[in-house]
Amino acid sequence: MIIQPRTRGFICLTAHPAGALQTMKNQIAYIKEKGTIENGPKKVLVIGASTGFGIASRITAAFGSGAATIGVFFEKPSSPSKLGTAGWYNSAAFEQLAHAEGLYAKSINGDAFSDDIKNQTIALIKEDLKEVDLVIYSVASPRRTHPKTGETYSSVLKPIGAPFSNKTVDFHTGVVSDITIQPVDKQEDIDNTVAVMGGEDWIMWMEALKEAGVLAAGVKTVAYSYIGPELTFPIYRNGTIGQAKNDLEASVIKINKLLEEKKGEAYVSVNKALVTQSSSAIPVVPLYISLLFKVMKEKNIHEGTIEQMQRLFADRLYSPTGSVPVDDVGRIRIDDWEMREDVQKEVAEKWNKVTTENLSELSDIEGYRKEFFQLFGFEIDGIDYDADTDENVKIPSID
Ligand code: NAD
Ligand code: NA
Repeated sequence: MIIQPRTRGFICLTAHPAGALQTMKNQIAYIKEKGTIENGPKKVLVIGASTGFGIASRITAAFGSGAATIGVFFEKPSSPSKLGTAGWYNSAAFEQLAHAEGLYAKSINGDAFSDDIKNQTIALIKEDLKEVDLVIYSVASPRRTHPKTGETYSSVLKPIGAPFSNKTVDFHTGVVSDITIQPVDKQEDIDNTVAVMGGEDWIMWMEALKEAGVLAAGVKTVAYSYIGPELTFPIYRNGTIGQAKNDLEASVIKINKLLEEKKGEAYVSVNKALVTQSSSAIPVVPLYISLLFKVMKEKNIHEGTIEQMQRLFADRLYSPTGSVPVDDVGRIRIDDWEMREDVQKEVAEKWNKVTTENLSELSDIEGYRKEFFQLFGFEIDGIDYDADTDENVKIPSID
């Protein structure tokens, strides 16, 4: 069939398998061009492995240091009434490309928050890899059903304490407008957001993996966080999601205790703001990202998920010195270029001036829009979008 983008609000309802395949090829080519990551991981579990930072992590491990990878994600194959999801097509392409180079790659599709998927993953590790030496936790979800209580929590993206008013952009239309977001009115909303995006599930995974005896000596584990500039603090770092990130960052202490006998190490990596399915859903943030992209491209320091993950592995987790560079509270910082003083100063100046009229001049809104569609396999160079495309793509290890 002919597959075109179809959007509703900030989401794209369709995805293009050939575009996804080309995106995977492009990310792999970048990793190969950067060369082998010395002393990199060999047996890797990626939880949240199908899109965004997760698929870029998987590609970096596999094609940067020849790692066998198991990817866990929650995606949908195509059905008679619906196309497959972008993460499904990415994963199908990834496995196919990994297998073509003799790399072990298997995937598990289902709810990572559940005991069942944890057990399936452990059984697969035992069967095939025996143990893992790196566990990446890159799940982003609006909802979580707690495996012990059966209760389902929904996260909210709201300020805490006071309403937040600022500019925002509809990146489809390019209209910049003022928005006021009311604060959470009950503690429960904060607690629910922490239950979904905080560290509890990461801890549960590490406990289960340890219990099963599938963690290698010296195992590393990393989860991803974000800080960003003061102008987004009310909606991000000081908002409900920020409480969840505080909880995620605090769980490093618990996981490090858990890993003591294996001489393992747990980290949170603070990553750069990027266009992903998750970040496009947050008000104000897409306007900030489109200004940030303009400034960082002008300074030749722009990065996407794959560039970020290459730096995370090569210069941080597996740095040539053998030690992992961290900030004063123990976090890996690959948001270092985003947070550079000169970058933030220029973004703040543009922020004060930006309107609908000057948006395309002051920001990289076109780049934002393009990257958004590229998440779904559209607007990729070299793809003929008028060509008949088979939407029934299988993930080799799943079908
Ligand atoms: P994403 O939406 O692209 O990826 C989310 C992944 O989680 C997908 O693989 C999806 O299949 C998986 N997933 C969701 N629910 C699941 C479930 N129930 N079971 C199994 N898998 C599930 O998100 P992303 O932007 O790559 O975010 C990953 C992490 O990086 C998050 O912690 C996010 O906060 C963080 N981060 C994002 C940014 C950004 O700007 N996008 C910046 C810094 C940090
Ligand atoms: Na991810």
